[in-house]
Amino acid sequence: MTRRTEITTPEILPHEARSEFSLRPRRLEDFIGQRKVKQGLQIAIEAATARVEPLDHILFHGPPGLGKTTLAMLLAREMSTNIVTTSGPVLEKAADLVAALTNLQRGDILFIDEIHRLRPVIEEFLYPAMEDYRVEVRLAEGPRAQTMTMSVEPFTLVGATTRFGLLTAPMRARFGITERLDFYPAGDLARIITRSAELMGVPTTPEGARELAGRARGTPRVANRLLRRVRDFAQVRADGVLDVPVVQQALEILDVDEYGLDSMDTRILSTIIVKFEGGPVGLNSLAVALGEDAGTIEEVYEPFLIQEGFLMRGPRGRVATRKAYRILGIPVPDRGPGDPGGDPIPPHPSLFN
Ligand SMILES: Nc1ncnc2c1ncn2[C@@H]1O[C@H](COP(=O)(O)OP(=O)(O)OP(=O)(O)O)[C@@H](O)[C@H]1O
Ligand SMILES: [Mg+2]
Repeated sequence: MTRRTEITTPEILPHEARSEFSLRPRRLEDFIGQRKVKQGLQIAIEAATARVEPLDHILFHGPPGLGKTTLAMLLAREMSTNIVTTSGPVLEKAADLVAALTNLQRGDILFIDEIHRLRPVIEEFLYPAMEDYRVEVRLAEGPRAQTMTMSVEPFTLVGATTRFGLLTAPMRARFGITERLDFYPAGDLARIITRSAELMGVPTTPEGARELAGRARGTPRVANRLLRRVRDFAQVRADGVLDVPVVQQALEILDVDEYGLDSMDTRILSTIIVKFEGGPVGLNSLAVALGEDAGTIEEVYEPFLIQEGFLMRGPRGRVATRKAYRILGIPVPDRGPGDPGGDPIPPHPSLFN
């Protein structure tokens, strides 16, 4: 059983840079961190293999760049099956899926990225495929058109989403396994950086990897991106070795702050502070002020800001913490007795962009 045609290409997933492919762990044992997720998958793989059955349908959710696509790909390797990749917004009509589904061989994986963006008709069409391995194909348009039932081989649907909240309840219910990926602690990110640096042939000191890890927003994709940039710097300006001074100098030039906040992170914090006097501000008002979807703010951006203590969610809305003021270089207003007030640091440059 060594069928292993990976139909996935960077063209199918246009947002995936080709370079990400080479750094992607290919086996579960190379996938660093997320211990509980790995354990769960390992058990599922062993059980399915022992029963000679396909894996249960699996849903991965969590913020971008934490390894959802990577896990889908490596599951196919672990199970020695094919994987066919598509994504929610690409599928316009059920017919787009018929060929893919009916061509699947037993145990194959159908990976649907951004599964929260599936159209309702496609979702309805998928349900019987997921449950009973059959699809209903309409033979013509219109309400009285005949349908034909076709069977598909038992397969595994792997779905990925950054927006778990947008998935319909019936869709969620059809996944036997649901795994949430969380931000990586710095130690895990340092290991990921060390591994990537080895693959890229960049000599790195453990302290250098650690320094970079602390600025990677808990996200392997960010870690790998920073690594590439810092490598360039090390090559051009230093002797090629990625150590603490090189990382620090490179990141200063790249204007990466000590937490690796991205521009949306700083926009969220500065909007709360500047437009809403630090909060509390309701999610919807914040979303309007930012011109961003409320759900995306809540599910994609806030988790990291909350985890790192930049933001709090209270009963009356979002509040920026002192740490947020500090990183933006804005003096903390005097909010009452015992409040030491702000430190006189100039405002963060991102406020003026
Ligand atoms: N646990 C890990 N160990 C090593 N590298 C990892 C790990 N997780 C992710 N990566 C690296 O980070 C990159 C981004 O991961 P991936 O594309 O799987 O994220 P994603 O969750 O699918 O993101 P998105 O939601 O944007 O699609 C990968 O190319 C891979 O190199
Ligand atoms: Mg992905």
